Amino acid sequence: MNILLTGGMGYIGSHTAILLSEAGHQVHIYDNLCNSNIDTLNRIKKITSKDIAFTNGDIRDTEKLFNTLVNEKIEIVIHLAGLKAVGESSQKPIEYYANNVQGSISLLQAMQSANIKTLVFSSSATVYGNPVYLPYDEDHPTAPTNPYGRNKLQIEEMLHDLAVSDKAWSIACLRYFNPVGAHESGLIGEDPNGIPNNLMPVIGQVVSGKLPLLNIFGDDYDTPDGTGKRDYIHVMDLAEGHLAALNWIKNNPRLHIFNIGSGKSYSVLEIIHCFEQVSSHSIPYQVVNRRPGDLPEYYASADKAKTVLGWEAKRGLSDICNDSWRWIKNPKII
Ligand code: NAD
Ligand code: UFG
Repeated sequence: MNILLTGGMGYIGSHTAILLSEAGHQVHIYDNLCNSNIDTLNRIKKITSKDIAFTNGDIRDTEKLFNTLVNEKIEIVIHLAGLKAVGESSQKPIEYYANNVQGSISLLQAMQSANIKTLVFSSSATVYGNPVYLPYDEDHPTAPTNPYGRNKLQIEEMLHDLAVSDKAWSIACLRYFNPVGAHESGLIGEDPNGIPNNLMPVIGQVVSGKLPLLNIFGDDYDTPDGTGKRDYIHVMDLAEGHLAALNWIKNNPRLHIFNIGSGKSYSVLEIIHCFEQVSSHSIPYQVVNRRPGDLPEYYASADKAKTVLGWEAKRGLSDICNDSWRWIKNPKII
């Protein structure tokens, strides 16, 4: 199928582009490179030995999107483009609403005009907010605690209204848990512009000497070792989740929500120890105050994705650390 990946040059999009291309799909990436680098395109092509089309464009440019959808004969859109830093979203809320919510409206207008009504949307576990119970299943109440999470929920609600208004739409919202790891080639991985906020990229910068140490945000949580626990999902498992979702959604109209997580949680210290083991490097750290807004622990019930999509995470923590390490120590010259 001809698939448009908005945000396809980013971390999750680039891994998904590889998998879709290897599965025989024609992939077209649409990205404004605000948090990615054009080099990634060459790396994707090198891994797949296939041509991947690319348009440098902003999702808020409805006309450019429309022209791309029509000219490339797109059949399905996977919508990953967006700003994603939780902390920054509280400092620059209007920028986040403009980029993420307005950008999604623009995409839906372009899709409607081009009569393309099949969509996979990158949502987030952050829509759930404070756990009422764990694991979070898809029926857990939603109460996001930051503008980024509210962007995701508003987009989901908009998609719901759209699917109710017009039965021709088939939409899958994938609520990702914590994507980590890298492609097994070591040629692509997470490469954020600027100083990273998330645990894995920070560990990568400590182990490669770019940062002197890791700040652990609190060791007094009600968890076995006191540090925060999360459901880390290998980015290639996540990519496989997109493939499973698009294979299923094209025959299943309306809106469907799926958690994409592993169903397990690991603490910050468990991640550090696993990384030290696979890299044979020690990771210096200090414990600092809790980060405002962090939750002690959460993880997914991924039963719905398994039952309905036939998808489940196959890779474990040592795969995550090994693949991340291969990417981090790669000299990054193509
Ligand atoms: P990323 O920043 O690596 O990739 C996002 C891509 O979107 C970038 O290449 C960026 O240049 C592009 N982009 C942003 N705004 C754009 C715009 N207006 N027009 C065109 N392109 C634009 O992020 P990622 O980790 O790959 O995340 C992809 C999606 O998954 C995002 O929507 C994010 O909110 C969501 N998500 C990510 C995580 C995570 O922890 N990484 C968790 C849950 C959900
Ligand atoms: N942590 C540290 N030190 C750091 C960075 C993180 O101790 O330098 C800890 C955090 O306190 C938390 C854990 O590592 O306990 C994971 O933190 P991340 O920042 O890596 O990830 P979050 O769980 O806060 O959030 C991520 C994404 C969100 C997404 C969410 C989905 O940043 O965009 O996962 O579950 F919505």
